Amino acid sequence: MSTPKRDSHSGRMDTGHEWNGIRELNTPVPKIVWFFYIITTLYAIVAWILLPAWPTGDSYTPGILGHDQRVVVEQDVKSAIERRSDWERQFQVLSVEEIETNDSLINQATNHGKRLFEDNCAMCHGRTGEGADGFPNLTDESWLWGGEPETILETLRVGINASHEETRISEMLAFGRDQILEQSDIRLIAQYVATLSIKDETGRHLDLGVDQHQAGAQLFEENCSTCHGESGGGIAVLGAPNLTDTFWLYGGELNQITRTINHGRQGVMPSWEGRLSESDRKILTVFVRSLSEKKER
Ligand code: HEC
Ligand code: HEC
Repeated sequence: MSTPKRDSHSGRMDTGHEWNGIRELNTPVPKIVWFFYIITTLYAIVAWILLPAWPTGDSYTPGILGHDQRVVVEQDVKSAIERRSDWERQFQVLSVEEIETNDSLINQATNHGKRLFEDNCAMCHGRTGEGADGFPNLTDESWLWGGEPETILETLRVGINASHEETRISEMLAFGRDQILEQSDIRLIAQYVATLSIKDETGRHLDLGVDQHQAGAQLFEENCSTCHGESGGGIAVLGAPNLTDTFWLYGGELNQITRTINHGRQGVMPSWEGRLSESDRKILTVFVRSLSEKKER
């Protein structure tokens, strides 16, 4: 240690420390660093006083402003609910028919319905509602149970072959498996049914002879018409589909029809009572109906 000297190169004083001829310069912390150090320290002290800052075991120092993120979130949620309940109240009191006369309610229903549909229905009916094998297409004009608002609302409430005690029952018998009909008769009926939906001569799957056609029609009348109607047009209160249109739930090829008649079909649609509120079910009803209307336009 020797006395501090001025460094001839930088013009600063050194500390007086020297190692092997190397002297240590005394370079002070730059003013700008002090400036920010003081500012941030002051800011921290002010923040400790004003805002929640220090943990104190199970609580914390609240700060004199009483600022609380939880309160902010609660207020946001409350005002969102108020905004929603304005129009939601209308969905509670109005019927679907009344809602469908009001354009702004239809808009709300299609916006919210899309989200509800994607969350609850899309896994079975597809994102666009076009369905799949065994899961009905909700965008066409063919309905198993009918497309009226009350019918759809009820289907959503109780489900089909569901656990709800008032569930709709959809029961296509297993004529082959349960040995209600002979295989030869099933073949005749299946061929007959396959021709029902194709009225255009050129598009016919099969050219049935008159005898075969009559035998098929006879068997159909005896075994199928109680549910599917005399001419195969379907009976909506039984959920028995129209077999004369071009919409098929399980496929309209001869082998698919034969399979349906042999093994029966019992499509299952869950009940939504207790899982979705009544207004949500109305929103979905309006949304589902808008899917097929959009197509018609
Ligand atoms: C687990 C699969 C599944 C889910 C989830 C589901 N559905 Fe279904 N849905 C079905 C099946 C299967 C049928 C046809 C039942 C039958 O064969 O009669 C059906 C039938 C329907 C029908 C009657 C169609 C007609 O032609 O009459 C409507 C309407 C419907 N679903 C709407 C919905 C809506 C809206 C949701 C969402 C809240 C939903 N479904 C969720 C499987 C499902
Ligand atoms: C007890 C009533 C009942 C009887 C009797 C009945 N069906 Fe059905 N059938 C239904 C119902 C309900 C469905 C719809 C099943 C479903 O949605 O899961 C259906 C579905 C079908 C389908 C499938 C349609 C599609 O879109 O894929 C065919 C084909 C069919 N039936 C043919 C017949 C034939 C042929 C007979 C007579 C041998 C017959 N059914 C007798 C109630 C019946």
